[in-house]
Amino acid sequence: MNFIEIAKKRYSVRSYKDKKVEEEKLQKILEAAHVAPTAANLQPVRLLVVQSREGLEKIGKGANIYGAPLAIIVCADHGKAWVRPFDKKQTGDIDASILTDHMMLQATELGLGSVWICYFEPDVIQKEFELPDSLEPINILAVGYSNEEAADSERHAQMRIPLEELVFYETV
Ligand SMILES: Cc1cc2nc3c(=O)[nH]c(=O)nc-3n(C[C@H](O)[C@H](O)[C@H](O)COP(=O)(O)O)c2cc1C
Repeated sequence: MNFIEIAKKRYSVRSYKDKKVEEEKLQKILEAAHVAPTAANLQPVRLLVVQSREGLEKIGKGANIYGAPLAIIVCADHGKAWVRPFDKKQTGDIDASILTDHMMLQATELGLGSVWICYFEPDVIQKEFELPDSLEPINILAVGYSNEEAADSERHAQMRIPLEELVFYETV
């Protein structure tokens, strides 16, 4: 599959088979995160991989991961993130999301399903995993083998705003 085929194939999976993600596949997903760019290469992101029963139960207290056997909590260390000098905009969330997207697409290429989760209680996740104050959980990526019928790769013509609404050339 080339890149656009992978991007079109990916869809949010909200039902998973009771099957673990193989260690080699997990390592490939983590490698995709490792090579992702971050602002000024400051790499202010930390990943917490959760696949034990106890860990998944802890996540379940603050998030619905739809029965996935693997969740990666993507955390930003805002103290380490780049800050734009003009307006003090800090890029920790952006950096965390680039890593998340790299992992999500790598998972697709490996034949795995995934869903990106922001609907979670950050204070619960923080407490359950005893995250240091310096780390904020930004995204949770749930990964596993899909138990759903695959979404149509050509669905985006209906499911996304038209390209003309998305893109402007030279002036808005
Ligand atoms: C930043 C972000 C946050 C999301 N949070 C959730 C979430 O908390 N729960 C969920 O079920 N899906 C979540 N999603 C998945 C989106 O709902 C989904 O990507 C979107 O509806 C498009 O569908 P598709 O992924 O199947 O193409 C999130 C996606 C993104 C990019």
